[in-house]
Amino acid sequence: MNQATGNDDYAVMAIFYDHLAPYRDRRDVAFFVEIAQHTPGPVLELGCGTGRVLIPTARAGKEIVGLDASEAMLAVCREKLSSEPDDVQVRVHLVSGDMRRFEVGRAFGLATIPFRPFQHVMTVDDQLSCLASIHRHLIDGGRLVFDVYNPYLSRLIDDRYLVESDDIPEFTMPDGRRVTRRHRTVSRDLFNQVNEEELIYYVTHPDGREERFAYRFQMRYLFRFELEHLLVRSGFQVEAIYADYDKSPYGSKYPGELICVARKG
Ligand SMILES: C[S@@+](CC[C@H](N)C(=O)[O-])C[C@H]1O[C@@H](n2cnc3c(N)ncnc32)[C@H](O)[C@@H]1O
Repeated sequence: MNQATGNDDYAVMAIFYDHLAPYRDRRDVAFFVEIAQHTPGPVLELGCGTGRVLIPTARAGKEIVGLDASEAMLAVCREKLSSEPDDVQVRVHLVSGDMRRFEVGRAFGLATIPFRPFQHVMTVDDQLSCLASIHRHLIDGGRLVFDVYNPYLSRLIDDRYLVESDDIPEFTMPDGRRVTRRHRTVSRDLFNQVNEEELIYYVTHPDGREERFAYRFQMRYLFRFELEHLLVRSGFQVEAIYADYDKSPYGSKYPGELICVARKG
């Protein structure tokens, strides 16, 4: 949800999301499913989107509540769930909501925010409010696990990213539409650590008709110690910071990911 306009920013993304190879093939699913299996109690996934991680977690036997601000992403998730076996479907509950402030009326052993939704939370007040909501929903000793990208210093100031360029190779949708996605950084606010990004989808229909969809969004980047301070300020203990979903330690590669495992202190 766009915090300024109230529009469903992910409406365009929802159409293509599950067909994008870099999303579909992300290596994070096994990581989040394994943590869920080793953490007692139900799971709360914030920014669950189309269920890319949520559905495998439910298949692995975990009860899971998915919260998302985009009705379009949730609709794709519901549609996918409807073809899952009954025992998987009953383990899932989907909620429309804003992770910056939410109340789902129950407690969880684990909260997750896979694939960077926390970077859509733009201000420190909202980050703290989001973490306070999570803290309130966790049982004592419950865990919070999420990833953000590790800011790549040279890329943050590289003007090449201001020019629209190829992002991922052309792919074909099940209905035959051919899609090319391109990307550009629209603006950079180095002081507030916010990039405005644009993803552009060029679609060619089987009858030759062409369409262009653009999706603009802001992402705030966070540095490792900033994230640790936020978590501690919000009542969490940081258990581990990883650079990758294979649990290699933070700093073992650059830029790597910034994957946080925290516990309600
Ligand atoms: C990159 S997708 C990640 C989806 C899913 N977690 C995955 O791993 O595929 C980001 C998701 O975060 C959701 N999102 C962004 N801001 C949000 C907010 N304030 N509250 C709830 N969901 C939000 C978007 O609607 C979108 O579904």
